[in-house]
Order: sequence, then structure tokens, then C-alpha cells
Amino acid sequence: MKLPQADFQHRRDRLAEKMGPNSIAIIATREEMYRNRDADYKFRADSSFFYLTGFAEPEAVAVIETFEDVTDYSYSLFCRERNREMEIWNGYRAGIDGAIEDYDADEAYAIDLLDEEIIEKLLNKERLYYRIGQNAAFDARVSQWIKKADAEHRHQGAPAQLVQLDRIVDEMRLIKSPQELELMQTASKISAQAHTRAMQMVRPGMMEYELEAELNYIFGQNGCVPSYNSIVGGGANACILHYVENNQPLKGGDLVLIDAACEYEFYASDITRTFPVNGKFSAEQKALYEVVLASQYAAIDAVRIGNSYREPHEVAVKILTEGLIELGLLKGDINELIETEAYRQFYMHGTGHWLGMDVHDVGSYKKGEDWRQYEEGMVVTVEPGLYIAPDDETVDKKWRGIGIRIEDDVVATSKGPRVLTADVVKDIADIEHLMAQAKA
Ligand code: GLY
Ligand code: MN
Ligand code: MN
Repeated sequence: MKLPQADFQHRRDRLAEKMGPNSIAIIATREEMYRNRDADYKFRADSSFFYLTGFAEPEAVAVIETFEDVTDYSYSLFCRERNREMEIWNGYRAGIDGAIEDYDADEAYAIDLLDEEIIEKLLNKERLYYRIGQNAAFDARVSQWIKKADAEHRHQGAPAQLVQLDRIVDEMRLIKSPQELELMQTASKISAQAHTRAMQMVRPGMMEYELEAELNYIFGQNGCVPSYNSIVGGGANACILHYVENNQPLKGGDLVLIDAACEYEFYASDITRTFPVNGKFSAEQKALYEVVLASQYAAIDAVRIGNSYREPHEVAVKILTEGLIELGLLKGDINELIETEAYRQFYMHGTGHWLGMDVHDVGSYKKGEDWRQYEEGMVVTVEPGLYIAPDDETVDKKWRGIGIRIEDDVVATSKGPRVLTADVVKDIADIEHLMAQAKA
């Protein structure tokens, strides 16, 4: 499923309304990223630009102008012109006609005309909405336009106010529509299928990258790419939070932690599962895993409309700390251990983040001094973990080098938390059953 153009238009309608009369918004997509000689990374449009336009080509700038009546706004798209030779080398371009016919632009221009055409559009506007600080070169260009508009048109000039456009668009993106949730559900289903396959295919002696290839197989079969670099960490590699080398052998007796997921139609999923390479948890692995799992279930249950953003983290920290005391990994009074953050020896990250078009999605976490509250349509990850460093001599040897994280994606709804990533198992009995069946 692709979002229909009408959805992008609806977003522009809402933005125009929030901008107020006599304003202009300028929003650029991201640039191609150089990899090495004659080779770029595969292009992926800027999320906020795509959110407002549905336009996925590089070298494009959208301009929205409001007038006295905000419902009568104008949308211009500056993009690459069609060019037979360039298209033979580098692929299809929508071009000027395509921008108008297929992407609903009111006006379209060659991107090369931006510096010239934008000046006229800046005149007589009260506010310029712009994504300040995203790209230094583009910031400099906008400054030049403002200077030029003022110098050449003294009586009209550039807008007097410069406003951070991200503040508005980020808030819009934070609340997901039913259609966006459907795309995220699809991304999550594919990602869950990839994790299930990894559990089924893993064997002692396999390289971490071979297991990564099993995930990529499912992503690729569904026309998707990873939404971030996959983490496949066997044994103590699971204790390196952003381990992406994925180049070590997987050992029977170790756990493997996989933090990997795909994006579907520009919407991300984010899943972590941890499971035994040989299909059976050891006593120590089981004990720690049960603590993480209990904390995760409780934290998911705290993703409720009206609860503070931080509630799942607080719930998770309490259960993790209790578990660490019971297992003898921490000693002392629970409240004091939480107060002094003693648990950070084994749990050093937050319990989640906003999820959407970006894996660490936009949207503020606080309103003023306070954590904000969950609202209908917000999506958050819930990802507690425990990591016992392999060289941590303060704990009994039997625990060292075990790293566990369990991560799901959760929507706040009026009916309570809705887990998008429920298709891949996480209870010990279910994991062991799935893995035993795969071996049989
Ligand atoms: N996969 C990145 C994260 O979990 O935050
Ligand atoms: Mn995450
Ligand atoms: Mn993750």
C-alpha cells in the first residue's frame, strides 16, 4: 500500500493552516550521499520533505505560500527537469509536468531556477518557516535569499520573522494517522517475519553476518531495506549497544541479540529479540531473560493515553532493579538503588523512543520541564535490557558476557497499548518451541 496523493495534500492543508496568513515555508529534501568514487549510498528522501510531498527524488525543494486566506495557499515544487540522457544513466524523473500532474503541485520549476524564483515569493510575507540548522549549506543559501530580497526590493523585502518549521512538522509527524499506522504495521509484520526466520535458521558456528543475511532476505523479498544498521551480536557482543560489525562466529551456549527491522513505504519498524544460538536457554540466561521480559511486559502496559512518556521507563527500571537484587547482582535497598541509578551498571539506556518515518522519530519528549503525556496515535518503542559486561569483576563469573534486550513497537490507543510487533515470539517456552521445531 502507498499513501494516496490526497493524504500528502491534506498534510499541506494542515501545515498552511498552522502557518497562518501571508507566510512562506521552504523545505528541502536531503542530498545524495557520497560513498566512494562514483558510488553514492542509495538515496532516501528526507522524512519531513516526503511527509509533505510524497516526492522521493533527490534535488527537490517544496515551497508553500499562504496569502490573506490560508485555505487558498499555493504549493510549488522545484525539482529536476526531465532529461533523456540523464534518465538513461540514472533513472526516471517526474520532471516539471510530473510534479504538477502526479504530485499535485500548483506550480513547478526546474531546481536550477530556485535562487531566482524564490526572491519574488519571499516578498510581502510576514513569516518565513524554514528548517533551521538541518543543512549548513542550505542555511547559507536561505540567508543569501533574505539579503537579496531586502537589497533588491527595499519597500517589500523579506519576511520579518524567521520561524523553526520543524516545530510544527515534528508535532504533526508525532501523531500517526490510521493510514500511517497501517504502514507501520506492515513494516512490523515483515520485520517480525525476519526475526522468526533468524530464530529458525541460526546454528552454532554460523557467522553473525550469515544470520544478518537471513533477515535481509525477508526484507528484500518484501521490497524493503533495513530502517537502521542491523545489530547481530553473539555472546558478549550483545553488551555493545551499537554493535554493527556482525563479523564473529556464533557459539552454541551463547545468546544472540538481534536488533533489526525494515522500513516500508518510508515507515520504520524497530525490533530486538535475544535467543540461544543452540535453541536452549541456560539457567543464568533464563534467569536474566525472565527479568527483562517481565519488565518489558509491564512497560508496554504503561503506554497508556494520559500516562507520562517516562512511565514505561520507570516501571521497567523498578522491575529490572528488583530482579537484579533477587539474583544477587545488586545489593541494597531498592529505592536507594533506583535513586542512585545503581542499575545503570547493567541497564544504561532509556526504555524507548518515538518511532515513525525515522527510527528515532521526531517530536519533543517534554513540554516545558515535564515529560509529555501519551496521546492517541503516538508510537513508541519499549526496549528494556540487561548487559553484564564480560570484564565486570564485581559480579559472579557465571553472569558475565550475557546481554539481553527485548524491543517491541507500541501505539497508544484509546483501547490501551497496541503492539505492532507481536508476530515474533518472545516468551522462553515459545522461542525454544519454535527453534526445536525448526531443527526437527
Ligand atoms: N535500533 C535502534 C534502537 O533500538 O534505538
Ligand atoms: Mn529502538
Ligand atoms: Mn532497536
